[in-house]
Amino acid sequence: MASEQRTSGLVIDYRNATAHAVGEEHGVTDAELDGIAPKVAAEHARIDQEHDSKVQRWQDLPDNTALADEISAFATDARGRFTDFILIGIGGSSLGAIATVGALGHPFRNLLPTDQRGGPRFFVLDNPDPEKVAATLATVDLETTLVNVVSKSGQTAETAVNFLVVRDALLKAVGPEKARQQIVATTDPAEGLLRQLSDHEGYRTFPVPPGVDGRQTVLSAVGLLPAAIASVDIHGLLAGAAAMRKRATSSDIRDNPAYLLAALSVLADTNHHKSMLVTMPYADALYGIADWFRQLWAESLGKKLSVNGSVVNAGQTPIKALGAIDQHSQIQLYTEGPNDKLIQLVAVGAYRETVAIPDPPESMPDLGYLKGGELGQLLDRERLATSWALTGAQRPNLTITTPAIDAFALGEFFYLMQLQTVMAGALYDVNPFGQPGVEAGKNATYALMGRSGYEELKRELLTESGDAKDYVNEP
Ligand code: PA5
Repeated sequence: MASEQRTSGLVIDYRNATAHAVGEEHGVTDAELDGIAPKVAAEHARIDQEHDSKVQRWQDLPDNTALADEISAFATDARGRFTDFILIGIGGSSLGAIATVGALGHPFRNLLPTDQRGGPRFFVLDNPDPEKVAATLATVDLETTLVNVVSKSGQTAETAVNFLVVRDALLKAVGPEKARQQIVATTDPAEGLLRQLSDHEGYRTFPVPPGVDGRQTVLSAVGLLPAAIASVDIHGLLAGAAAMRKRATSSDIRDNPAYLLAALSVLADTNHHKSMLVTMPYADALYGIADWFRQLWAESLGKKLSVNGSVVNAGQTPIKALGAIDQHSQIQLYTEGPNDKLIQLVAVGAYRETVAIPDPPESMPDLGYLKGGELGQLLDRERLATSWALTGAQRPNLTITTPAIDAFALGEFFYLMQLQTVMAGALYDVNPFGQPGVEAGKNATYALMGRSGYEELKRELLTESGDAKDYVNEP
């Protein structure tokens, strides 16, 4: 079916997160859901109003099909010309693209022959880790490498240094004119150091939409350009997000999947001591979504101050896990350790591959139960078994099922989880936008590295001889 005609297909089963399944001490009650419903409805109205006055602009990103057309045209041309692609960006400027390409690309994409890969090999430089940066430069063919540097602020130190290193290598390998043509920058349309540099050097640029935080940019050029380079159906992504937006318009907590998830998480935290939220997909391809969501939930909700300025130290620690691997690593803790987690499992209706389990040898009768089985069926039953075991141990859990792993479904996840996070911020009474805690660390890095304008902070952090002070606050 054409993606424009498809409707949202994600299914949420939250029965095992309720008191009916895990008891009143650990599960959310119907009365609690009823009790929070008026606040959800009021915050829904506020969010809608803010959207009308151009505050919640991330909600409009699914409509930007003209930008997707432009990016598709750019990517089609680039796929024919480049053998390698390096994405340079960190946090909200890379996690969405990593999640998307990880979900929709071949798991060993970089190892495939060119004619089967659907575009250049894909590398990400987020951490300024000298070993990884050096290894990346030693692996790519700089003559035919496209570099996409992504920074909303244009000044993040990790991105700046990785870019300076790669740019320098490009200049040496191909010279200034070709290097210029091999760099595309995604940044603020008007402001910031990367914007200045791009204008000065004449790079092709794509916009990071103003008024949208970095962690909400997956459906802008930030996420769409790298995805399109890797042959992802970016129009399908936008259509899936738009379908979820259409589904999530009700102010009724039980009708709006994003608000339901937000209310369950916040109630689980504030009323039932579930200070952690585990996201555990049963598909390797969806692990990146759990990572992307981890940043979204942590940076949006982890706030010292409420909207009224009182100290609340809000937030719920997001954890990523992978089924079935973490059944052999984390589930022991989740089932018998502190009962401090809400666990959201992600199930897949139909995996993209079917792998039959061959008949075990007759000499191994104990393996007979696997006869006639299939890997996806086993993985999904493991998910069911985990949910059952968690519920039996009174550990609240819910399951989000996607019928398939494709661009449309991924777009749905992106929109759902962003709205869930915005509503969770409202229920915690914090502003989910901005990241003052991240900025403090960024500023300290600038000071430690001697950036001008940060002299006072530098004196606080370094001794006169330039050694780092011990960062132990004396009582
Ligand atoms: O969500 C956010 O805003 C942050 O995680 C940023 O994406 C991250 O700090 C990178 O910032 P920038 O895109 O400005 O380089």
